[in-house]
Amino acid sequence: MNKKEKIQAEQNVCPERRTEMMKKVGVAILGVGVVGGGTFKTLTEHREFYKKTQNVDIVVESVLDRDHERAKSIGVPAEVLASSIQEVVANPNVDIVIETIGGCGVAKDFILAALQEGKTVVTANKELICKYSHELERVAKRNGCGLYYEASCVGGVPIIRTLLDGVQANHITEMMGIINGTTNYILTKMAQENADYASALKEAQRLGYAEFNPTNDVDGYDAMYKLSILSSMAFHTKVPYGKIMREGISQVDSRDIAFGKQLGYTLKLLAIGKSGEDGIEARVHPTFIPNAHPLASVNDAYNAVYLRGDAVDDIMLYGRGAGSLPTASAVVSDVIYAATHSEIKYSTFKNTATAEKGVKFISDFTSAYYIRLSVEDEAGVLAKITGIFAKCGISIVEVAQKSKSEAGEDTRIPLIIITHKTTENSVKSAVAKINQSGITQVKAVIRVEE
Ligand code: HSE
Repeated sequence: MNKKEKIQAEQNVCPERRTEMMKKVGVAILGVGVVGGGTFKTLTEHREFYKKTQNVDIVVESVLDRDHERAKSIGVPAEVLASSIQEVVANPNVDIVIETIGGCGVAKDFILAALQEGKTVVTANKELICKYSHELERVAKRNGCGLYYEASCVGGVPIIRTLLDGVQANHITEMMGIINGTTNYILTKMAQENADYASALKEAQRLGYAEFNPTNDVDGYDAMYKLSILSSMAFHTKVPYGKIMREGISQVDSRDIAFGKQLGYTLKLLAIGKSGEDGIEARVHPTFIPNAHPLASVNDAYNAVYLRGDAVDDIMLYGRGAGSLPTASAVVSDVIYAATHSEIKYSTFKNTATAEKGVKFISDFTSAYYIRLSVEDEAGVLAKITGIFAKCGISIVEVAQKSKSEAGEDTRIPLIIITHKTTENSVKSAVAKINQSGITQVKAVIRVEE
């Protein structure tokens, strides 16, 4: 019996019998590493609990992993170990396939194979959903099965379900998130212990937050994939990752974190999405936020997403964005949702590869800025610099001159300028002019969100 026939048969049973009957749902797990292993543990240890609370018996029927010994070491029985994806999808007891392999290689082929067999898929794969959700969703729809990906964004924090179900009453106008735990850990360490970037990264690697090649996290790719998924859902239109401005944290200087702190700001790698009359802006970059902002107190590897809706006003979700059991929490919640709902909910936007025709994306966005220069402490220097800002139409809020010792410099002093809101292009033009002026070089430019 395929998935459609199963649903049909279920609907033909009278309602009284349906509630009496315990539904049995078979799942397969593809990859039992950190997240897949946590998923196996959660499903097996909570099986009785789900029977009691959800009236569903979820059974792990199949596990596919190259390393059978690793699978057995976490308690996977030898008889459920499969040797190929064909074996998994041909198993009539498997209703839902959980993909926890990651990346866009075999994971994509395996998901497609499952969907083509009419199996609902639950995945934790952000890069795959970001790049191919249009293709995967098309195949899922054609085969009458679901595609769920709560675990792809912000680990255990139920942001996808919130966007799909919890805040549908609203026009979401703004989203700001700390959606990468590794970079948040590094920036917290730099802020609290005055550590430099290299040693904070090393510590993050030692603790297993950052990978040996940390690019995906520290250069903002991970946050960019998640922002693409989340802003598409929040704004009901495709926000392709190519439309997202991305800057990572590897150039962050701990002196700027310290100077920012003195001025009342905390530095975070923020993922920002805004939707208004002029269009959509989506960006990932290190950002100063006021110390009193709720996101400023989100520290270590924790994540948080802050949403603004026209009816609900402000909402913030906070929790662990990564890790075995927090991510498994999201995976298993999707499995339970799929197992207990016969109606499938797909994207609320036209899920295509590229942006929808007519939707405008803003690249020259507006922001306040923190700009640090290194200058000679001489008469006229400040006047020349502020003159350049004035020529570029940039209004200054605050100028702070620091001592040589604070900057660790011999002859020059740090000069910090905080601007009023201006455009990205105006700042780029002012920076270019300063760098060409012969007066000094701009050392740091950090956007400020109020
Ligand atoms: N590497 C990610 C992070 C977790 O540091 O948040 C998975 O997306």
